[in-house]
Amino acid sequence: MAGTDNAKVKELVLKCMHAREMAYCPYSRFPVGAAILTADGAIITGCNVENSSFGLTVCAERTAIQRAVAEGHRKFSAIAVTCDIKDSFVGPCGACRQVLIEFGTDWVVYLTKPDGSYKETSLKELLPLAFSPAHLGH
Ligand code: THU
Repeated sequence: MAGTDNAKVKELVLKCMHAREMAYCPYSRFPVGAAILTADGAIITGCNVENSSFGLTVCAERTAIQRAVAEGHRKFSAIAVTCDIKDSFVGPCGACRQVLIEFGTDWVVYLTKPDGSYKETSLKELLPLAFSPAHLGH
């Protein structure tokens, strides 16, 4: 992305892959990892955390953003997301797209395969015509 050097993107991608290894997913056996790059250059990771009451499962992206906000971050520039699917680039679920856009429309999103290759897209592209804080005057 413009303004983010290649080394930082590589670090973000590596960290999302490491985060996937921490996933707690005994029910789906579908580990997901996410890593968020904050505006000040910090990287905050998350993994999916499932529950025997299935609806309480939290996705990797939402685990990461909640950690980031709890650690005092509110400005973000990018997120990398990965899962175990090798043959296509997989995007965040719709609920996670909405949660991410709460914190700005200008996110770069790196959809990452297990081999570390990635496709760059954006939150705007993934969630066009989004409902956002602007609609509530924020
Ligand atoms: N999952 C995520 O962590 N992120 C997504 O964007 C899609 C789905 C998780 C939730 C659940 O633990 C597993 O993947 C299967 O749906």
